[in-house]
Amino acid sequence: MQKVVQDVVQEVVQQGRLKVVILGTGGTIAGTAAQAGDTIGYTAGQVGVAALVAAVPMLAGEALESEQVAQLDSKDMTHAVWLALAQRVEAHLARPEVAGVVITHGTDTLEETAYFLHRVVDASRKPVVLCAAMRPATALSADGPQNLLDAVQLARTEGAAGVMAVLAGSVHAAADVRKVHPYRADAFSSGDAGVVAHIEAGRVRRHRPWPEAAGSGSRRLRADPELWPRVEIVTSHAGARGTLVAALQAAGVDGIVVAATGNGSLHHELEAALVAAQQAGVRVLRSTRCLDGAVLDAGTEVLSSAGALTPVKARIALLLDLMTGG
Ligand code: SIN
Repeated sequence: MQKVVQDVVQEVVQQGRLKVVILGTGGTIAGTAAQAGDTIGYTAGQVGVAALVAAVPMLAGEALESEQVAQLDSKDMTHAVWLALAQRVEAHLARPEVAGVVITHGTDTLEETAYFLHRVVDASRKPVVLCAAMRPATALSADGPQNLLDAVQLARTEGAAGVMAVLAGSVHAAADVRKVHPYRADAFSSGDAGVVAHIEAGRVRRHRPWPEAAGSGSRRLRADPELWPRVEIVTSHAGARGTLVAALQAAGVDGIVVAATGNGSLHHELEAALVAAQQAGVRVLRSTRCLDGAVLDAGTEVLSSAGALTPVKARIALLLDLMTGG
């Protein structure tokens, strides 16, 4: 069996036929507006992934396959879609004739899906590349086609691995990527870590090693996403109180991530409520509201810190930790 698989890979490599599989999930990249000049009053998740691929002339004749996994505005992303997506990504990565997987996605929760896949899917040998757009497919200045082309290029780059996102010519690691602008086409940053690479005129110029893979398989997740642990996010701010934490506790949450001020500091009223929740068995993680950097512990803190994870990524880390035991 191993020999047969090796032969197939040998043959497809020799003939340059390794495929890229493109999974569609919706987003602005698949969005439409009534007028080409409209870049805000559009509906996300309208165009099928096959049509998105067909709209890029340079992809014609390429060894590609597409599959629609979901069709939504990514603000409405669900754990059920994440599970289905992880399973489809794993199934395609396991195929010897597949070089890598591309996912078309909305920009609003792209960093969450990317981080979830990074923590779940084993991308140590093949890349998983998310791409998106800030302008709908109907826009005069649509950025989706170029981002999709760049993503396919990255997915078939020899030696590439890990979960990444490609937007506006920048390649971001899933662990670092975050949306930092609500409108500009170049809306993403990798913060202090910096981008992994740039894609320029179809060439990948790499600045640091491919991201390390951290996924141990979707089979470790509970089959019913309704039964996944419930983890919510609260924010520390002027005038913060403990009532929200008490309400979450009463609602039966399993974990709370707090978006703390500065280096993980908390309003004393909110802190008291979080410590009480932790003593009652709720897992609590402190992340920071700051856009860059990591929470640095002095070693005496009662509430654990999330290090460099943003609040939304810390929520995923805690969710997975609660579900799979670390
Ligand atoms: C979405 O996230 O699905 C809509 C917004 C976007 O893709 O830019």
